[in-house]
Amino acid sequence: MEPYRIKVVEPIPITTREYRERRYAEGGYNQFNLTADDITIDLLSDSGTGALSAEQQAAGMRGDETYAGSRSWARFRDVAEDLTGYEHILPVHQGRAAERILFGALLKPGQLSISNTHFDTTRANVEIAGGVVRDLPCPEAKDLDSDAPFKGNIDLVALEKALSGPEDVGLVLMTITNNGGGGQPVSMSNIKKASKLCRKHGVPFILDAARWAENAWLVTQREEKYREHTPREVAKKAFRLADGCVASLKKDGIAHIGGMLAVNDPALAKQCELMLMATEGFRTYGGLSGRDLDMCAQGMIEVTEPLYLRERAAATEYLADCAREAGVDSVRPTGVHAVYLNAGRLFPHIPAHHFPGHSLASELYLAGGIRCAELGSLYLGEITEEGELLSPAPFELVRLAIPRRVYTRSHLEYVAETLAGIAKNPERVPGYRLTEAPVMLRPFRCKLEKVK
Ligand code: F0G
Repeated sequence: MEPYRIKVVEPIPITTREYRERRYAEGGYNQFNLTADDITIDLLSDSGTGALSAEQQAAGMRGDETYAGSRSWARFRDVAEDLTGYEHILPVHQGRAAERILFGALLKPGQLSISNTHFDTTRANVEIAGGVVRDLPCPEAKDLDSDAPFKGNIDLVALEKALSGPEDVGLVLMTITNNGGGGQPVSMSNIKKASKLCRKHGVPFILDAARWAENAWLVTQREEKYREHTPREVAKKAFRLADGCVASLKKDGIAHIGGMLAVNDPALAKQCELMLMATEGFRTYGGLSGRDLDMCAQGMIEVTEPLYLRERAAATEYLADCAREAGVDSVRPTGVHAVYLNAGRLFPHIPAHHFPGHSLASELYLAGGIRCAELGSLYLGEITEEGELLSPAPFELVRLAIPRRVYTRSHLEYVAETLAGIAKNPERVPGYRLTEAPVMLRPFRCKLEKVK
């Protein structure tokens, strides 16, 4: 059960199918055009959507808004230093700011950034810095149904080959957990070996630590050597295997806004600090208020509480199990922050160019007011400006991201029941066709229509 009780509640909109049909059509069948009043259960993102604890609220009240050298900064730095062990801690307003600053300082034009999987903002920031991304997920990641424990790992053989030249590698970025790869964890053994390879070749090894605590939890559950460790001990060890990190604290900081950039190299830190001060804010606040810094610091302490992590992982698994029983498969084994539904398998009658993932996301909204994110050909496929799909995504997935401490099991049961209703008559669900297909940031800006 949840190791907390509810002190503040917020009503959620309960709407009719008729209302939702109208609102969704008005927004060109793009869920980013829906507003809060249209949505009953919002599983679009687990980022910045968590519930604050009483201690976080209290920490917010203690927030010190001194421009330079605030007490809030000192508290944030102490927690981050103790957790990561890095010499230089820079606060930023969210993860992508850390990415922009670090890659700008670290990558020379044409250099490779290698990752188990770059998240989309991460990819964009590598490219903006003039770098070239390469994803090297482990081979097990290709089989959605296998129960291999660490499908988030990087492919070490391919990594060693890439590091051996002749290409110029600027950095290796390990995303924990692997959000672009089904929310799967990375083992400590994989982090250790990747770190060793990077040291051997003199290439900086950086963690994208958005979900560092959830990765640590899964390590304690799935990696023999760490069974007796606490999630916090595992997380501390993971950070210490890398040369630095970029981290969104909107996930495992359980904050509404916040992030950090941390490195050991003093020259790199100086360069990043300069960019931080020019674009985010002075080095002791980096675009955050004192209140935010204090709430992030408290969140970074709470998030490794084993009872919290155990319940969160169990709730996500419960949703995946209910969905599977109802006939909707998801990427196995279930991770912590999201369930990745296999829409391609549920809708064999919808071809990739009619976007089965979007069909499932749409039906979840129309049938239940549930919002989620397509991770299939609409998002990852190669599409012309006229809306023609040139090459599909490898899988047609839909991500149900679970906000932290927000929804109860009965909310998740409602989601599962809605899915069960869809799975009873999957052939009734239509495909969609793009009517507007901007090339840049397509998922946020495109419009679609139902295929009759
Ligand atoms: N890295 C990963 C692995 C992420 O999942 C995200 C954000 C970021 C970096 C960027 O962090 O949003 O604080 O700038 N992921 C959110 C999501 C948006 O819904 O998965 P940010």
